[in-house]
Amino acid sequence: MVKRYQINAGILNPESPQKCRFIKDGVLIFNEDGHILYCGQRKQAPLLDSTKIKVPANAFIIPGLIDCHTHLSQYYVRGRSGDTLLGWLKNHIFPAERKFKDTKHAALVSKKFYQRLLSNGITCAALYTNYGAGVRAAFEQAERAGVRAIIGYTLMDRNVPKELKQDPEVAMEECRRLYERYHKASGRLFFSINPRFAPSCSPKLLKAAGDFANKYDVHIQTHISENLQELAEVKRLFPKTKSYAEVYDRAGLLTPRTLLAHGIHLSRSERLLVQKRGCAMVHCPSSNLFLHSGRFPVEQWEDYPRLALGSDVGAGPSFSMFDVMRDAYYINIMPLAQLFYLATLGGAKTLGLEKNIGSLKAGKQADFSVIRMSDMQAPGSEELLYDLIFKWDQREIVQVFVAGRRVWPNC
Ligand code: GUN
Ligand code: ZN
Repeated sequence: MVKRYQINAGILNPESPQKCRFIKDGVLIFNEDGHILYCGQRKQAPLLDSTKIKVPANAFIIPGLIDCHTHLSQYYVRGRSGDTLLGWLKNHIFPAERKFKDTKHAALVSKKFYQRLLSNGITCAALYTNYGAGVRAAFEQAERAGVRAIIGYTLMDRNVPKELKQDPEVAMEECRRLYERYHKASGRLFFSINPRFAPSCSPKLLKAAGDFANKYDVHIQTHISENLQELAEVKRLFPKTKSYAEVYDRAGLLTPRTLLAHGIHLSRSERLLVQKRGCAMVHCPSSNLFLHSGRFPVEQWEDYPRLALGSDVGAGPSFSMFDVMRDAYYINIMPLAQLFYLATLGGAKTLGLEKNIGSLKAGKQADFSVIRMSDMQAPGSEELLYDLIFKWDQREIVQVFVAGRRVWPNC
């Protein structure tokens, strides 16, 4: 017989960008294969024989958080300050990423990275890593950690140190092998193709990446229009192309499976092109503050259904999606319910995974965290969101589950 589990606790669930619902006397019931059977008021719950999982008094449950843009291979170099984007990449990031050729290093960092994600209640992430060795290590450690992830191979062939340059044909062949071995192999893990950004990719590499993604129907992850010097570089390198967005569009890289990070300085026509192609836009507020890249004009994306949040570790120094929500609020006044939505259900929609994750609902996967706040007074959804996002020193993530299995703490 399939075993069932039940947790009695408060439940904070996103419903829409405008609405987040808190159930004080809630219950979550799920079975051991990871499906939610019931999530709602305890007094209306079906009578099911289930094993109770003990949680602290006053604990509450939130859906697993989703980080739609992060760099695994930048784990050790968070917080390297004093530069803006291009200098920071050259001085701190490229040297760190070169180390991922070493399988042992890649495995060790991947393991640490996933523990950090899970201990922050992040159960799903779209990420970048380097080299075939780095991608293999990232998949193998993700499988062990039990996390969900979209794992991308960072592609570059110009304006970077020679050790980081790939030949487009060789890289595509390697991507094909990685795709065949790992994509959807466990149901929780996906391979993606990540041309870093236009300044480090030749038109040939961009086109090869676009062709690959469209042939195999995988996600594309890249950066766009983050920094004004970067924009000048794109103009210099692609003098005949009208705009940055157009560079990607010509290579077949603007698709509904594309996750574009930053998008701070897009012109109106570029934004309309990105929206027409149905690409996802990932707002990375902590990174934008850290690298002094500029303000993401969130008001221009108000009703766009595929907007999400990313930590952009290591330009974003923190793994915590609550810190990312807080920084987003500091940059643009936004309703807290919307910020919570962007890091949960909105993130799931952005990744095309909303049938399975993003909120706690019968039929979806049991990905969630149990949280305790000290000094919490008579919580409603709004008070809980204030406390979660701004009172980091009073927030404790007690347990984290993915597909009904406890993944943190994992002893
Ligand atoms: N643009 C190209 N590469 C990167 C990166 O690694 N981080 C950020 N923030 N922007 C980029
Ligand atoms: Zn990034």
